[in-house]
Amino acid sequence: MDNRTDNPRENATVADRVLNVGVVGCAAIARRNTIPALVADPSVRLVAVASRTREKAEAVARRFGCEAVTGYAPLLARDDIDAVYVPLPPALHAEWVGKALEAGKHVLAEKPLAVSGAEAAGLVAAARASGLLLMENFAFLHHGQHDAVRALIDEGAIGEPRHLTAEFGFPPLPPDDIRNDAALGGGALLDAGVYTLRAASLYLGPTVTVRGAVLRHDPGTGVDMAGAALVGDVAGRTGQLAFGFDRSYRCACTIWGSEGSITLDRAFTAPPTLRPLLRLRRQDRLEERTLPAGHQFATLVASFARTALEGGDLKTPGDDAQRQAELVDAVRSAGER
Ligand SMILES: NC(=O)c1ccc[n+]([C@@H]2O[C@H](COP(=O)([O-])OP(=O)(O)OC[C@H]3O[C@@H](n4cnc5c(N)ncnc54)[C@H](OP(=O)(O)O)[C@@H]3O)[C@@H](O)[C@H]2O)c1
Repeated sequence: MDNRTDNPRENATVADRVLNVGVVGCAAIARRNTIPALVADPSVRLVAVASRTREKAEAVARRFGCEAVTGYAPLLARDDIDAVYVPLPPALHAEWVGKALEAGKHVLAEKPLAVSGAEAAGLVAAARASGLLLMENFAFLHHGQHDAVRALIDEGAIGEPRHLTAEFGFPPLPPDDIRNDAALGGGALLDAGVYTLRAASLYLGPTVTVRGAVLRHDPGTGVDMAGAALVGDVAGRTGQLAFGFDRSYRCACTIWGSEGSITLDRAFTAPPTLRPLLRLRRQDRLEERTLPAGHQFATLVASFARTALEGGDLKTPGDDAQRQAELVDAVRSAGER
């Protein structure tokens, strides 16, 4: 039986449909990584970018070949946009992700989805109620180097995983950076620490909880400049996490098992041209494997577009983001004690 209708959009298969995307805010990360990945993806059409200022919207729209919109609300009101990418400062995510969901758009939200577990829970509930996809942009989850680590763990290369260390830190940022502004959701925990928490969930699983933490605040700005946390899961596996804006660059993750360990030293930010190095240590040898390069923003965008177009299980990404925000709350309350 032919189920085709007069509406060409309904007749198209997922393979030949495109997701019409708008961008809410012309952030550095959008211009540098995400918009180029959106433009390059054949299942996405970049319709428009919005900025608080007309000049900025026009400059970015010219560069990426789309329309410019002044103000975020007019972009959300457009019927020709199915999904939006929200790369605003963290404290503005709840408002604009919430408004985007209200407007019926699927949302790719920059990390962190929200500045608290309560905010994240509200957004996840709103997405679920309206059957929309809400995904938090942890691009590193979409890099093949973590698939390689998972495959090694699953084949028993390091025995039973016992402990994880994850670190993400870098030198001080300019004073006017959004990360130095408490009102915008600044601080090392929300910016860098969140990666280490996400790595703990990835490798220790959903039962991981925070057992202790330390946060060091800048007395001038009030934001946390650095911190560390101890985590553990129900099986007694542990993790040590460290992050900061006050140190040399480090972006590493080690899984230490009963018979060996695996280390990635560009665990969260591998650029597309990098062939990442994986170190597999066992009792009697060190093996260094150079892995294929991967474009984590391209694979993230492809996954977002495919999930939104297929309309399948839209629940899991939001659930992960809510659990992640609850872990952030736990680090904050333990670290500020
Ligand atoms: N996934 C990743 O790898 C990654 C990497 C870096 C950053 N991020 C995340 O992306 C988000 C943006 O970070 P970014 O470094 O790209 O920041 P950014 O360059 O400072 O951009 C933030 C944008 O938010 C808009 N905005 C609205 N109200 C603002 C206000 N009061 N102050 C400043 N900006 C305001 C601005 O867009 P308009 O002026 O155009 O309106 C601005 O361009 C953060 O959530 C961050 O954690 C993710």
